[in-house]
Amino acid sequence: MSPSPHPLAGPIVAPSILSADFARLGDALALVDPAREWVHCDVMDNHFVPNLTFGPLLVAAARRLTTALLDVHLMVERPESLLARFREAGADLVTVHVEACADPAATLAAVRASGARAGLTLRPGTPFAQAEPWLGDLDLFLVMTVEPGFGGQAFMPAMLDKVRAAREWRERHGARFLIEVDGGITPATAPQCRAAGADVFVAGNAVYGQGDPRAALEALRAAVR
Ligand code: DX5
Ligand code: ZN
Repeated sequence: MSPSPHPLAGPIVAPSILSADFARLGDALALVDPAREWVHCDVMDNHFVPNLTFGPLLVAAARRLTTALLDVHLMVERPESLLARFREAGADLVTVHVEACADPAATLAAVRASGARAGLTLRPGTPFAQAEPWLGDLDLFLVMTVEPGFGGQAFMPAMLDKVRAAREWRERHGARFLIEVDGGITPATAPQCRAAGADVFVAGNAVYGQGDPRAALEALRAAVR
């Protein structure tokens, strides 16, 4: 599909296809409005996290089904060896875990060199300070609000402090990264994240796990508006 202008200022809801029915991926992606939303793709390798999902082939399938920004969250060891393939598959933004990179600066540079926007994230237990050296050049800073690996987990309210820390750092340094939250995001928790400074709201179960995903997405849009 031909590219459309992607929203790059919050609030942006990013439905996560982790909770979608992959046999009906086209229906799942048809709910997403490319002019105001992103599609979040959770890649897991059974090493960095104890779960296994999908790779570039499925990202390429999603690319054929939507013009929305494809926001690819790599929960994999040594992500550098896969970056080119995800970019070729159609990833617009690639986020790596600081814990998974031997050399985060080199990995983020490789993401940018591939032509994708660059994001960095960290596990809930990893202190904000471990991301600080790279924040100045990022397009996206992702605050994990659950332990990465599975959809449908409960939101960790303690992570709101990390969102606030990121917002304060961004203001202090005049940086431009968007702040994304991922895990347990619902119409109840999203406004707390918004108040703390989040711009992008990933939601899997709260959209695709609901009886009426279209209405559920609309409820999230209203909650962060
Ligand atoms: C978890 C993933 C999330 C997941 C969120 O490791 O990074 O993106 O899809 O799922 P929910 O919204 O169901 O908590
Ligand atoms: Zn994710």
